[in-house]
Amino acid sequence: MIKLGVNVDHIATLREARKTFEPDPVFAAVLCELAGAQSITVHLREDKRHIQKRDVELLRKIIHVKLNLEMSTSIEIVAVAQDIIPDQATLVPEKRQEITTEGGLDVVAKYSKIKKTISTLKRKKILTSLFINPQLKQIDASKKAGADAIEIHTGQYANATDPKRQKLELEKISKAATYAHHKGLIVNAGHGLNYENVIDILKIDFIEELNIGHSIISRAVFVGLPQAVREMKQRMKIR
Ligand code: PXP
Repeated sequence: MIKLGVNVDHIATLREARKTFEPDPVFAAVLCELAGAQSITVHLREDKRHIQKRDVELLRKIIHVKLNLEMSTSIEIVAVAQDIIPDQATLVPEKRQEITTEGGLDVVAKYSKIKKTISTLKRKKILTSLFINPQLKQIDASKKAGADAIEIHTGQYANATDPKRQKLELEKISKAATYAHHKGLIVNAGHGLNYENVIDILKIDFIEELNIGHSIISRAVFVGLPQAVREMKQRMKIR
């Protein structure tokens, strides 16, 4: 069965709206773990708009499932990762103006910087993953740069409303997953997935883990976080 990683940034976004102590993403992560999440993802952005260093430090101490830290290649954030040592670091592109991560990392264009960051993280025995669009040239560059894993950006698929376009995007993801798997990379995927569009993603071979945030946290507002996580896990059983 494909594993579920829950992204709890959205809980921190709510907290930061008031710059207060609640709701606490660390508390949320514990509830997700108890409900069956197999990893917890947080993105420590350079502008600290949601997750704070304190959250990552506490998560490192408290959760027992995999801690996946999404991050840029900035010196400051890489130093935090070297200090806290998450189980996995996922390098993502970061822009100040964006609402959420907009596209995959351009590993081809930023090859040297990414390769250097990967080796810095690997010296601390942190598993490294690159968040990329489903393009073979990005997979080749990821492998060459020394990444252990990739996370395929499913945003284009999630945003597509026309069934033909959805099919096309699914085919791209499927082709990329097969290609990366045969290159020896661990294949994960995520972004924009919800209780409906996840179904077709589950049919794709070689994906090991899905990272889902917004949809689970949105549902949690109405049904509670443990229930929202359990419902997603239930969906993922159909594979
Ligand atoms: N994977 C990555 C690399 C992301 O940046 C995000 C969003 O923070 C997600 C997965 C989860 O996306 P969503 O919140 O749309 O489920």
